Amino acid sequence: GKVGVLYGGKSAERDVSIMSGTGVHQALRSAGIEAHLFDTGVRSLAELAEERFDRVFIALHGRYGEDGTIQGALELLQVPYTGSGPLASALAMDKTMTKRIWINEGLPTPRFEVLDRRSDLAAAAARLGLPLIVKPPHEGSTIGVTKVSDAAAMSPAYALAAEYDEQVLAESFISGRELTVAILGTGDAARALPVIEIVAPEGNYDYEHKYFTDDTRYLCPAPLPEAVAQRVQEISVAAYRTLGCEGWGRADVMLDADNQPYLLEVNTSPGMTGHSLVPMAAAASGMSYEALCVEILRDARC
Ligand code: DAL
Ligand code: MG
Repeated sequence: GKVGVLYGGKSAERDVSIMSGTGVHQALRSAGIEAHLFDTGVRSLAELAEERFDRVFIALHGRYGEDGTIQGALELLQVPYTGSGPLASALAMDKTMTKRIWINEGLPTPRFEVLDRRSDLAAAAARLGLPLIVKPPHEGSTIGVTKVSDAAAMSPAYALAAEYDEQVLAESFISGRELTVAILGTGDAARALPVIEIVAPEGNYDYEHKYFTDDTRYLCPAPLPEAVAQRVQEISVAAYRTLGCEGWGRADVMLDADNQPYLLEVNTSPGMTGHSLVPMAAAASGMSYEALCVEILRDARC
């Protein structure tokens, strides 16, 4: 059938999505699938309907792509699509709601406060302790994120995050190792790929390091004691299932000095660029980028 690769979009992660979509499109083509790129940032929903795709691969990131909106539109159009449905997508796109659900389920996540323009920033910082992370809850790729190490930096950090979201998330900083876990499948069949450890220069794994520089090291499988790696995979899969995620995703996790894991977020439409992590984890388990794209597409739901 005719497959659409949705890419581009209108979020702050548009450029990342163009890299992801281009890669996915090429891979599906080389697997003999009739795939077509469709830029949702440029073309309308009416045009999407007219294309009459048999299924679509969502290679969009962030708002209007990963947040349940395009998923809801595809439900209405009755076109099967990759990844999570509208509810899980919307929940996972909101890091605050995600944390509330995890806390309710007893899953570990750093302590947090929700800030708005009436908040006493210094008081919040005092309650959480420094350093802390200030971020817009609905963005990805580290956009709008600041690590705050002294109280004077709270105000500019808040202002930056508030450019993207009305409410801002302040989260305790977990000092330790940065991990990520790719997950494939749905429900009881959801499984974790090998854990990746990200070693960025000065612990600074930001937008530039994610996509444009080569000085970040990725260790896959992460050099962890077997029991720790297993625990990280287990809580990642639990975090994904609890949100109702489907198809594929990637959980970001911090590991403190005592090897205690803390969940940060689940990405329901993770990056598929040449620098991205799900393809790296797949490769470590013997699955090529092409095979990964084909498997994700095969699991498309409606
Ligand atoms: N938000 C980016 C695309 C990722 O999680 O890979
Ligand atoms: Mg993210």
